[in-house]
Amino acid sequence: MSTMRLADTWTPESWRRLHATQQPDWPDAGGLERVLLELSAQPPLVFAGEARLLRDALADVGNGEAFLLQGGDCAETFAAFSADAIRDKLKILLQMAVVLTYAAQLPVVKVGRIAGQFAKPRSSPTEQRDEHVLPSYRGDAVNDLTFSPEAREPDPDRLARAYHQSAATLNLLRAFTRGGFADLEKVHLWNQEFVRDSRQGQRYAAVADEIARALRFLRACGVDVANDPTFHTVDFWTSHEALLLTYEEALTRRDSLTGEWYDCSTHMPWIGERTRDPDGAHVHFLSGVGNPVGVKLGPTAAVDEVVALAERLNPTNEPGRLTLIVRMGAAVAPERLPELVRGVDRSGLSVVWSCDPMHGNTFTSETGYKTRRFTDVLDELRTFFGVHAQEGTVPGGVHFELTGEDVTECLGGAQEIVDAHLSHRYETACDPRLNNKQSLELAFLVAEMLRS
Ligand code: PEP
Ligand code: CO
Repeated sequence: MSTMRLADTWTPESWRRLHATQQPDWPDAGGLERVLLELSAQPPLVFAGEARLLRDALADVGNGEAFLLQGGDCAETFAAFSADAIRDKLKILLQMAVVLTYAAQLPVVKVGRIAGQFAKPRSSPTEQRDEHVLPSYRGDAVNDLTFSPEAREPDPDRLARAYHQSAATLNLLRAFTRGGFADLEKVHLWNQEFVRDSRQGQRYAAVADEIARALRFLRACGVDVANDPTFHTVDFWTSHEALLLTYEEALTRRDSLTGEWYDCSTHMPWIGERTRDPDGAHVHFLSGVGNPVGVKLGPTAAVDEVVALAERLNPTNEPGRLTLIVRMGAAVAPERLPELVRGVDRSGLSVVWSCDPMHGNTFTSETGYKTRRFTDVLDELRTFFGVHAQEGTVPGGVHFELTGEDVTECLGGAQEIVDAHLSHRYETACDPRLNNKQSLELAFLVAEMLRS
């Protein structure tokens, strides 16, 4: 049965009639059923009304009236779960957003890869080390990164743990963004100590000074800065790859206001490059929920595939519903992106274009680390902005893998991280992330691209 026909009879479990790729082989089927039942009785993590607000904000992004900043870990883990780590991820995203807002004079829609980013698609179902072959690590919601048979066995209790960690993470994010931490009068405090002395840190401090001056000016003009929530809270949204369809199904709820279904595990679920078959289970599942959704598009993505995806995911061509997150790689993007953007634009599709300059630029360094070059990331971003300028379309946003910590996972940037440095603090469970300084540096560079 085609996805189109199925759409008439969409239910949270109708994806089960289609082939779902990248799903774990759970050895304990009874355990999985028990956990899913438990999850479907848990409170939703987000509300439908919030997802609709984000969809509206993304509609502005599609019109060029706002800019999307999406970022966070490649994979969240149970081990790296702490209040400090959450705070530091929020800090770097807020800093980047301030830089972009200030330089581009556009509102920035802030979306974290956070509070649910626990499942990873893999190129190979198994991993070999010497003569040992084990199931691949599929994210902490499924199994453990440790290379042992026990650790790599999928364990359904991990789904429940991922849910509870997501709830705690979201709770803290809500407290930080509503409770004063994200106050514009505190912009200086988001500059972490180890960043302050760097060139990017100093540049940021100068922007923060300007903002403080602007706020004093507004106060002097009689604006009630102290009591206007605009200055003291921010909207911060969550996103993750909707990979494990059993988990997403268990958290899908009917909105009591509209009667529509929403995936209440996150504000903005996205479909990965490996699971974006227009006739596949992932596209079918997200076709039935009201959230704004993303789709990753790799180097082979063709216009007709995007048209097919949009027919399923956004048949009414609603602004803000569909974000195309292109990740072609710096080398391929100049060849393929113009054609894709032009073709999609000529098809009259309402989409938000976002650039993920990370996933097409991954390689293994000589010392054996999976890494990315800052210069490649920058090149792909330049191509993205250049192509949209040329085609007269809107470069809506950017999608990064980053962390608030001072890790050494990506090469280059002002710190000039080289291969020999990667071992110092290589902590990612999956793909290499930009560290705090590299992220801030990139925000300044993207701001310049946006301005010109
Ligand atoms: C990711 O975003 O971590 C990811 C796996 O991306 P992609 O689907 O683009 O490869
Ligand atoms: Co990744």
